[in-house]
Amino acid sequence: MKRGSACEQHVKIDAAGLTTPDVCTKLSLILRKTFSYFHKGTVYMRLVFAGALLLATASLPCFSQATAHLTVDVAETVAKVSPTLYGIMSEEINHSYDGGLYAEMVSNRTFKTVKGLSLENWVLIQNGDARATMEVDASTGPSAALRHSLMLTVASAGPGAEAGFYNTGFWGMAMRPKTAYGGSFWAKAESPLLGGVTIRLVNDKTGEVADSTSIPSLGIAWQQYQYTLRTGELNPSADYHLEFLVEHPGTVWFQLISLFPPTYKSEANGKRTDLMEMLTALHPAFLRFPGGNYLEGEQLNEHFEWKKTIGPLVDRPTHTTPWNYWSSDGMGLLEFLTWCEDLHMEPLLAVFSGYSLNHEHIKPGKDLEPYVQDALDEIEYVTGGVNTRWGAERAKDGHPAPFVLKYVEIGNEEYHDPSGTYNARFAQFYKAIKHRYPALQIVAAAPVTAVRPDILDDNDHVLHTHFYRTAQQFFQDVHHYDTYDRSGPKILVGEWATREGSPTTNLGAALGDAAWMTGLERNSDIVVMASYAPLFVNVSPGAMQWPSDLIGYDAMTSYGSPSYYAQVMFSTHLGDGILKTNLETPNPRLFESATYDSKTHVVHLKLVNAASTAQPLEVALTGAAHVQSEATVTTLRGRTMQETNSITDPKRIVPVTSKISNAGAKFSYTLPKYSIQVFDIRVD
Ligand code: AHR
Repeated sequence: MKRGSACEQHVKIDAAGLTTPDVCTKLSLILRKTFSYFHKGTVYMRLVFAGALLLATASLPCFSQATAHLTVDVAETVAKVSPTLYGIMSEEINHSYDGGLYAEMVSNRTFKTVKGLSLENWVLIQNGDARATMEVDASTGPSAALRHSLMLTVASAGPGAEAGFYNTGFWGMAMRPKTAYGGSFWAKAESPLLGGVTIRLVNDKTGEVADSTSIPSLGIAWQQYQYTLRTGELNPSADYHLEFLVEHPGTVWFQLISLFPPTYKSEANGKRTDLMEMLTALHPAFLRFPGGNYLEGEQLNEHFEWKKTIGPLVDRPTHTTPWNYWSSDGMGLLEFLTWCEDLHMEPLLAVFSGYSLNHEHIKPGKDLEPYVQDALDEIEYVTGGVNTRWGAERAKDGHPAPFVLKYVEIGNEEYHDPSGTYNARFAQFYKAIKHRYPALQIVAAAPVTAVRPDILDDNDHVLHTHFYRTAQQFFQDVHHYDTYDRSGPKILVGEWATREGSPTTNLGAALGDAAWMTGLERNSDIVVMASYAPLFVNVSPGAMQWPSDLIGYDAMTSYGSPSYYAQVMFSTHLGDGILKTNLETPNPRLFESATYDSKTHVVHLKLVNAASTAQPLEVALTGAAHVQSEATVTTLRGRTMQETNSITDPKRIVPVTSKISNAGAKFSYTLPKYSIQVFDIRVD
């Protein structure tokens, strides 16, 4: 592109496929209208119009925004980019797993909610003149972990007059054509005379049966049964429910009723394929789990007890979450680890530190020892050979190969603990873990002085939380780490997000995020890991606890927020060395970072223009013998900060790729308003 005026640059951008009306077109329209009035009006009117013209001219972007100057020194990299810079953080919040990533379609499958034993989401069926009742029976269940069950008592039933119940799913059950759904349940019958059970997938609105199958007879002792339902031709829809029906009087007990669609990589007890594919596109280097508040629990006895989340589902007692709903614990420790394995993410395992959200804590010393031992056992479960106590347990659970674990965090947001005991608690965990696993990097969840952590999970010292901010707060703090003490521990930004937009974030949030990420990237010699949070939200009514999330979904489909696409752009265009940049700009909402990929010889230049006007820019790449003139530009942009994606409009704001042909040691470009752009420029 030839160097030219800001207006010429706009024309060029539109030619590259971007659609926002050109400011110059707007200007010529205003001019034409104003002059036509000017000719017709009185002297007074002419004066008013002349004033208006002056004002309009002054406020137009292509004249108001002075050119910014950016120098990128490509002669050498100033530090290495952390290969683990961009990760994800996840916990059971907003129905992230139950009703989310965990593909189980039956909700409240173990008849327990935050209210106690409960049949929430289960509805009695009495077809024709069948008569039956259902209730939770606390006196019988299939295991020590599940000692209760749903008791169906049928007074009368027969063919065409069945009795039973149905499950409403997680805001529906998504059915797709020609698909096999694999189910299982535990049951026992009062007598063999009760016969069998018919299981059907039924459309809520039409009553159409998508498929039906039968278990011919039920035994009188607790036993697990398997079933498969196959759909034929149907319109994909979440308007389905799952029915269990009997045709004879008597009593029958049920527990752990389950139904799975095809899962990611066909794994048993697996994950939703669409969400795993969205995460694959994000290229996360690590997963911080299992929380968050979900690790801590509201009270000490409600923390994430990993030993209760492993093994067969029937041996998992399930537990409450601090997010006011019950967790099936189908996503247990092993499922978190296979999630890491599937997406090639480093596990960042957070272990319970003896502190809960209601500010209870375990005294460091003798009282804390069992918790330290629990963490050591957990690390052994993850990394131990099959000849170790907990490695053998993992093998029994189906994964003989040990996982690679490099990072362990002690607790979560420990700066909230008013007792001031974290220093001592951390030291106790640190010493025990380092003694047995010296190579592990130990992450502190708050500043400590007793021992020096390898990594500190940093927090916003003003807001006294992880980095949950407005876009403006991030714009003003993009230099946060520029002057950080390089002699201290490395930094994990364990949770961060621009909290604008609900249920998922909007373009303004993506701009705040992108601005913040330029700062993380420029400082990724010290910021070795950063994970956006929360990752997921089920957007169905009542499913969300935390507005402003990265990825939204319902039972049927999923979508990424503009923040999601900003993250994809940043994590997939990342070199291995940080380049020094110098930006001179009159625009306080213009941000930059540049990295160099030594294998591909590509400079990944990221530019964020969060202003409401386009920004002319002169770029100088110094120190390269040759700069290829054709470069790729990936752009995420919109008309307003509020513009966003949603479940019904999922692709409104998505990255668009185009080419420029005027890249060089020096070149001009005009950054569109409200835009995030990545330039991939080959240099030699
Ligand atoms: O991400 C939501 C919550 O915010 C996390 O559970 C907690 O660590 C933080 O306060």
